Amino acid sequence: MILNPTRAEIDFSKLAFNLESIRKHIRISTRKKVMVCGVVKANAYGHGLEPVSQKLVSFGVDYLGVANYDEAIKLRKLIPEAPILVFGTLIHSKLQPEKYVSILQKNNLIATVASLDTAKFLDYYNKDKDSRFKVHIKIDTGMRRIGFDVKGALKNVMQILSLKNIFVEGIFTHFAASESGNKKFAYQQLALFQELLHELKKNGAEFPIVHCANSGGVLDIPDAYFDMVRPGLILYGYYPSSEIKNKIELKPVMNFKSKVTFIKKVKPHTGISYGRKYFTKEDTFIGSIPIGYGDGYWRLLTNKSKVCINKKLYRTVGAITMDWTMIELGKVRKVKVGDDVLLMGSENGINLGADKLAKLVGAIPYEMICSVADRVNRVYLNE
Ligand SMILES: Cc1ncc(COP(=O)(O)O)c(C=O)c1O
Repeated sequence: MILNPTRAEIDFSKLAFNLESIRKHIRISTRKKVMVCGVVKANAYGHGLEPVSQKLVSFGVDYLGVANYDEAIKLRKLIPEAPILVFGTLIHSKLQPEKYVSILQKNNLIATVASLDTAKFLDYYNKDKDSRFKVHIKIDTGMRRIGFDVKGALKNVMQILSLKNIFVEGIFTHFAASESGNKKFAYQQLALFQELLHELKKNGAEFPIVHCANSGGVLDIPDAYFDMVRPGLILYGYYPSSEIKNKIELKPVMNFKSKVTFIKKVKPHTGISYGRKYFTKEDTFIGSIPIGYGDGYWRLLTNKSKVCINKKLYRTVGAITMDWTMIELGKVRKVKVGDDVLLMGSENGINLGADKLAKLVGAIPYEMICSVADRVNRVYLNE
């Protein structure tokens, strides 16, 4: 039995809505059939890896994308069928490479190959297996994170294609600034990627799945759709930056909520919480909510954020602590112990979206939703 009132409510009808908005936008923007790889890394952006992935598969997404092999193996236990692409690269195990590769093979994972070493490693340790190891080759067109530098990639990719024990199912790149209002760099990246694909084609190399577009790309760059898109943030209901807006309708999937648990009356000039960073101005009621930075409600929001109770907004006051946040309820007490509190998300026309909170603290919406801690109970609605 869960006793703590703090929870993240994840509404699957909103996840379905966002996916449909994305699909509609793709249909309007191109006549081609484009597959969707639902990005569920980082615990599905804080929404819960397993339930969200299962739902996305039931909604018909074609691939699931995770960051690393631990996420992928955890996911495979629940989802026997869907293709799982691991975006991260391998740490080559020198200790038990055969065992290591067979675990990946047994779990039917698709590896990203970002270096020749990885390709050769997978090829070599897969030599006695019945099926070839599926990989997608990562090309670095400007993100400068992992991948073959697009400039020398032709030779490397051709070499990988000659390896017998791996099957190159896909090739992809990743935008560094598709969320920007200025798409100049994104188009430069796209042009480099297209040139490489063209050169590869001239050399007889073609790939079943070419992909590139993250959320910013899905919203703004139809030329980057190729065979598959990889939306993450927009699935969860937020735009990747305030520079792109209103392209498609999105609904925040998560509402981060708790309940008022304690109320006290205090006098003017009363210091609230650690460090006494807030002093009351008048006789007022202070409510305490059992949610803090240990739950993923950022301490940086101290004296900046608002919460919603019974459709009314109240300011958080004093330092947000690990387990508690205090709010000022005013002179007249309208709120009761046990009343529901919305801290992040949107409800009844009140918008306390992760993008709004992020702005208050110089962060991005990605960070706000990914921060929701493991100890927070996820409650799934409209399953
Ligand atoms: C390789 C890759 N593709 C797609 C995504 C999804 O990005 P977004 O959440 O901006 O859609 C990510 C996330 O950063 C990623 O690393």
